Amino acid sequence: MAQNDVVMSVRDLSVNYLTERGPLQAVNRISFELHQGETLALMGESGCGKSTLVMALMRLLPSNARVPNGEIHYTTRDGRVIDVLKMSKGKLRAFRWSECAMVFQGALNALNPVIRVRDMFYDTGRAHGMGSKDAVRERALELFRLVRLDPERVFNAYPHELSGGMRQRVLIALGLLLDPQVVILDEPTTAVDILTQRTIIDVLMAIRDKLGFSIIFISHDLAVAAEMADTVATMYAGEIVEIGPVNEMFYRPHHGYTLGLLEAIPSLAAEAEELVSIPGSPPDLIEPPPGCKFHERCPFAVERCSREVPPLVDVDETHRVACFEADRVIAKARETIQA
Ligand SMILES: Nc1ncnc2c1ncn2[C@@H]1O[C@H](COP(=O)(O)OP(=O)(O)OP(=O)(O)O)[C@@H](O)[C@H]1O
Ligand SMILES: [Mg+2]
Repeated sequence: MAQNDVVMSVRDLSVNYLTERGPLQAVNRISFELHQGETLALMGESGCGKSTLVMALMRLLPSNARVPNGEIHYTTRDGRVIDVLKMSKGKLRAFRWSECAMVFQGALNALNPVIRVRDMFYDTGRAHGMGSKDAVRERALELFRLVRLDPERVFNAYPHELSGGMRQRVLIALGLLLDPQVVILDEPTTAVDILTQRTIIDVLMAIRDKLGFSIIFISHDLAVAAEMADTVATMYAGEIVEIGPVNEMFYRPHHGYTLGLLEAIPSLAAEAEELVSIPGSPPDLIEPPPGCKFHERCPFAVERCSREVPPLVDVDETHRVACFEADRVIAKARETIQA
């Protein structure tokens, strides 16, 4: 992908939460770039900082969060560069719908039960200067068709008249009302059954290909990540420990943690009996361990890993890893993963 199609550039970003025991390092010096039309999946265990990272990108962090260092630059379709961390409150409101929209973790149940779907669209459209109600309606119906909802029925419905999967698609359509360039989805398929999940993924991929936006999405389901993503980032204890093209990440992982996550998926392991879950649990983010934060759980760890922090280095042009023992990880991966 060319350098000039970067939509979002994140540099050295950290987020701390103030807690009674002291600052908790939820995101620690993360850097990555998101390109036009690219789908980036974030994977990693619960509590590794995925939601914190995407909330920071949208400036939606709770009040006890601090951003001690880092930069987020966003490039609009007409080539203007926005410094997201320095944006005024007023500009931020427009940014959140017109440039970068987010569908929240658990938002399914957050729809106001007494507000019809059409009024959510009218309110959002009006707040963002979309002109006439007719224009909002037309755009909404078009989006409903794209997400495979019965346009007229859903437009006039109350949330409780819709299934979970339909509400999720309503929220995706609402996020797209102002034609954003980036859509962030935090666990879009977690609260729904497997068939509904299938529909949502199909719909998302179809609509992405038609409208051409970029996606950052979080999913605990690695099969979903494998199917939807162009690029996958593995997060551990607030850091990106490996990032690369989806096939590289799933078939040639260079980090012990990425390999550990993959070995826990039945379909990617060579033999069912070789399935292993990663021993231990993630570290305390208030007093993180020295060296590589994963070393205590890592089967590849050597003495150095407990002393020195491995930098994120290039495996090749598109694939980066933070591991001193990457050569041994990839050798093991070649044995265990069937390409
Ligand atoms: N408002 C807060 N105050 C203090 N700590 C917080 C707050 N929100 C999150 N944390 C902590 O920050 C860390 C990162 O949390 P985050 O929600 O970003 O993880 P996550 O990867 O999204 O997890 P999950 O997969 O469970 O959604 C966790 O240790 C969490 O306990
Ligand atoms: Mg989360």
